[in-house]
Amino acid sequence: MRLIFLGPPGAGKGTQARFICQRFGIPQISTGDMLRAAVSAGSDLGLLVKAAMESGGLVTDDVIIRLVRERTDEPDCINGYLLDGFPRTMAQAEALDAAQIVIDAVVEIEVPDDEIVRRLSGRRSHPASGRVYHTVNNPPKSDGFDDITGEPLIQRDDDREDVIRKRLKTFHAQTAVLSSYYSGKTNADPDFIKVNGFRPIDEVKADIVGQLERL
Ligand code: AP5
Repeated sequence: MRLIFLGPPGAGKGTQARFICQRFGIPQISTGDMLRAAVSAGSDLGLLVKAAMESGGLVTDDVIIRLVRERTDEPDCINGYLLDGFPRTMAQAEALDAAQIVIDAVVEIEVPDDEIVRRLSGRRSHPASGRVYHTVNNPPKSDGFDDITGEPLIQRDDDREDVIRKRLKTFHAQTAVLSSYYSGKTNADPDFIKVNGFRPIDEVKADIVGQLERL
């Protein structure tokens, strides 16, 4: 099973990806998590991408395409994977096509911009595991700490309102076009599933799982 999750920043891609990956036994490949790990490790890749991420822009296509290609070649991807945050530009989608990677389904999660700002301002993350919480909608059992490890949660540097608005602008300018690109594909191309993400987390989850199980 190879899946792509599309949607604006804060739509709930990471939240839902965790459920789906558990359900179908496939790894979650989050380009955002991989890039943040590189930034905090201070690696060459991290130094290269830090400025773009902090400003709410995109990392260049060639860097991202190479990163995803290396990750999907790893042995745990043999039975499939979920791409969370990739592709994000037409060039990235075309690179997948050119590599003749067969995608089974594209899941688009739709959420209005105002709700995005509210969600991302309240998001708290556990970087080591990728688990995400929300101070109001999905709080941890103990305020400020991860449910499983008890380690402190962090607020992402790009979850400040000015950067959130820039990320939304980037999404509408460069990524939104992928919705019509994938929904317009036919025949042997991936199934396209659109879900309303402006509902409680469990409802969105049931909708996505139900639609994927029917495929
Ligand atoms: P990335 O980490 O991919 O960020 P993003 O796409 O902006 O997505 P987010 O992680 O912010 O949101 P999400 O949809 O996963 O929402 P979440 O589940 O956390 O990318 C970061 C940066 O890296 C980019 O800006 C770019 O610079 C670079 N980058 C990454 N990939 C790239 C690429 N392919 N090309 C170029 N550059 C790239 O949920 C958000 C909050 O809402 C949480 O608090 C959650 O608890 C809450 N929530 C979730 N669902 C619900 C719900 N149904 N109701 C209420 N609250 C909810």
